Amino acid sequence: MKLIICENYEEMSRTAARIAAETLLRKPDALLSFAGGETPLGFVHRFADMVNSGQIDPSRAYYVSLDEWAGLSREDEGSCGLFNQKELLGRMRIPFLQAHVINGAADIEEECRSLDGFIAAHGPLTLSVLGIGMNGHLGFNEEGVRFDLNAHVIPLSETTKRVMPKYFGEKFHPEYGISQGIRQIMAAETVLLLASGEHKANILREAVRGDVTNQVPASILQTHPSCVVVADKAAAAML
Ligand code: F6R
Repeated sequence: MKLIICENYEEMSRTAARIAAETLLRKPDALLSFAGGETPLGFVHRFADMVNSGQIDPSRAYYVSLDEWAGLSREDEGSCGLFNQKELLGRMRIPFLQAHVINGAADIEEECRSLDGFIAAHGPLTLSVLGIGMNGHLGFNEEGVRFDLNAHVIPLSETTKRVMPKYFGEKFHPEYGISQGIRQIMAAETVLLLASGEHKANILREAVRGDVTNQVPASILQTHPSCVVVADKAAAAML
């Protein structure tokens, strides 16, 4: 694992966008996948800015979303689909050649099959940009997840359920998530793990310095041949 410690959230976001841009410059037909949520918001905005200023051209590249709350559609407030549309895809003046965004309101087993199909057709992932959950989850690969799965539906952990009102208040109460599996994430050429804020310091230490265990799914990234942790000072405080 390579560790890049940034002064603050803004620097973390710019650093990650620079790495994503370098990936696209090196491989114009890359398959990119970015997490949703609070952590990557600045990163996806910077990425879209770089597209709009002509620094990078996504028109030969592919994009696939990482995960979704089961039951939420791409229009629902707080869904990963809406995040993708509003914060990334809808901001880019030049679109990706193809973008595949999970629909949590559709038949979720079918969504897993089509996610697997898209990644198999255009993959493996060139770059996966991830956030880390308070329980160490990656996407919705929760504690105890098998590391050999592709896309799957998984019960949300108690920790994730406790955190989820920050995305959509009490409007939705999903019990399951749909997620790329650890197998697909681990097959990515490069993985960026972003972390920001002191509330992530403890779990980031466990993921980066602790044992590799499925009780802290992000710890598997210690065994990835090209994983870069980009954290701000607050999140990196216990490393
Ligand atoms: C969201 C996702 C999740 C988040 C994680 C951290 O698409 O994949 O694994 O990355 O829960 O969320 P934030 O960044 O909101 O703290």
